[in-house]
Amino acid sequence: MKTYQFLFIAIGSLINVNCSNNSESDITTGSNPDPIPTTITYTNTIQTIITSNCNSCHGTTPTNGASFSLNTYTKVKNAIINEQLIERISKAQGTSGMMPDNGTRLPQATIDKVISWKNDGYKEQ
Ligand code: HEC
Repeated sequence: MKTYQFLFIAIGSLINVNCSNNSESDITTGSNPDPIPTTITYTNTIQTIITSNCNSCHGTTPTNGASFSLNTYTKVKNAIINEQLIERISKAQGTSGMMPDNGTRLPQATIDKVISWKNDGYKEQ
């Protein structure tokens, strides 16, 4: 009899553990069933795009003939406003003036992120 009692308790607590695990994940899903896409910000998206594709020339000290730096939020934002940054990255592959200079055109999805960032008002964080 004692063995059966023990088994009941053992199985019972197993089920309990399962239940609480399930309800935990239910709560997580339930509170956010249809996540709103994260807004593109300089910190979460743009900085990495520029670091990976542009800073080899437009770094803290511009090199390879680049005349300006794209190493801060303000500089990238101003280059969109004043230096036609979006027009430069949107040019067709092989067109003169396309950025990255002498490089491979960024994937359209990446270009679109920069355009969204501009349209959303250049959020920093
Ligand atoms: C291999 C070096 C190199 C890379 C990488 C590079 N650039 Fe440039 N960039 C240049 C040079 C050289 C110039 C000046 C010649 C010109 O205007 O085409 C320039 C000019 C520019 C200009 C025009 C500035 C003006 O005064 O009109 C913009 C905007 C620009 N780059 C943005 C970018 C962006 C954004 C990236 C990354 C996606 C990038 N560049 C990557 C070398 C580079």
